[in-house]
Amino acid sequence: MILPIRVYGDPALRVQTEDVTEDSPELQQLIDDMIETMRGAAGIGLAAPQVGRTERLFIVDLSPLLDEMAPEERAALPPQPMVFINPDIVWESEADVEFEEGCLSIPDIREIVIRPEQIRIEYLDRHFEPQALDVDALLARVIQHEFDHLEGVLFVDHISAFRRRLLRRRLRDMTKGNVEADYPLATSVA
Ligand code: NI
Repeated sequence: MILPIRVYGDPALRVQTEDVTEDSPELQQLIDDMIETMRGAAGIGLAAPQVGRTERLFIVDLSPLLDEMAPEERAALPPQPMVFINPDIVWESEADVEFEEGCLSIPDIREIVIRPEQIRIEYLDRHFEPQALDVDALLARVIQHEFDHLEGVLFVDHISAFRRRLLRRRLRDMTKGNVEADYPLATSVA
């Protein structure tokens, strides 16, 4: 089932998520729904708060970008989609890298964000098997963006005060529900 996506200004995007404590048919259904929702919106990642949930859970699917990847990056990519339950970023490289980001919860806005180039993440996969992964390039970028969502952090929180001021009106409009996308949104009109 495709779930409506919460938009910038929605308090659900600012919650502190909680660890998933047990597997259940409901959790597996939520994961399936999130994958369907992400694909329906042509996204490459989606975190639980974006569909109004508080589980520490996000998904990533870079398969739409396979053609754009260097052969080595493609070869190193784990099977997609990936499910991250109770994730923890346990190491970050000192080296940072710039990358342009967008977010399904902030339609039509893209901004350069600086983040660590490489990370190590520990998590449970959807079968509740513990996993540890060293990642770089696009996968590291998307994982860090989605991980932020579990902490109530959005990519526009990372940009300069100057850049944010330029976006102020558009972000305020979104907060008021004045926003459109070609996928279902749950706009919270105040
Ligand atoms: Ni996002």
